[in-house]
Amino acid sequence: MPCADSARVTRTETLGPPETERLAAELAGRLAPGDVVLVSGELGAGKTTFVRGACRALGVRGPVTSPTFTIARRYEDGRVPVSHLDLYRLAGAHQEDPALLDDELGPGRIAFVEWPEADPEPLAGRPVAARVRLEHLGGDRRAVTIER
Ligand SMILES: Nc1ncnc2c1ncn2[C@@H]1O[C@H](COP(=O)(O)OP(=O)(O)OP(=O)(O)O)[C@@H](O)[C@H]1O
Ligand SMILES: [Mg+2]
Repeated sequence: MPCADSARVTRTETLGPPETERLAAELAGRLAPGDVVLVSGELGAGKTTFVRGACRALGVRGPVTSPTFTIARRYEDGRVPVSHLDLYRLAGAHQEDPALLDDELGPGRIAFVEWPEADPEPLAGRPVAARVRLEHLGGDRRAVTIER
């Protein structure tokens, strides 16, 4: 059951991917174009699973898979254009153009960013609508903390 630490932070334990996707869908319903959502957590914690749930709720029907090797993917078939970023491979790079992600993080799109801490530079100064943290609790259990 959700346990509200404050009006803006919820921590929920999920028992499998569908529950994590449902939480993501709930968040997606509160998002608007221009919103950036940071999604953190260890390898395999469920970041991409969370983003997939959000994308489905936004009407994206095609595959939503990890963009680790491409840094960014765009989904244009939903109700709102969506960007899906994974900054894992930028870790330690610190040499990219600060405008690198401008197209993905533009005002007309909703953007989900996995591994935002790997390289915070391209995100600096951009308003963040929500921060999501996923933690392994053993087996298929995860703690999902959403801060809005
Ligand atoms: N409660 C749960 N919530 C989310 N995923 C779960 C849960 N239980 C099991 N899983 C499984 O854990 C895996 C999570 O993989 P996913 O790609 O979403 O993680 P990730 O955090 O994006 O990993 P990476 O760091 O490699 O990007 C999937 O195989 C998913 O089915
Ligand atoms: Mg992932």
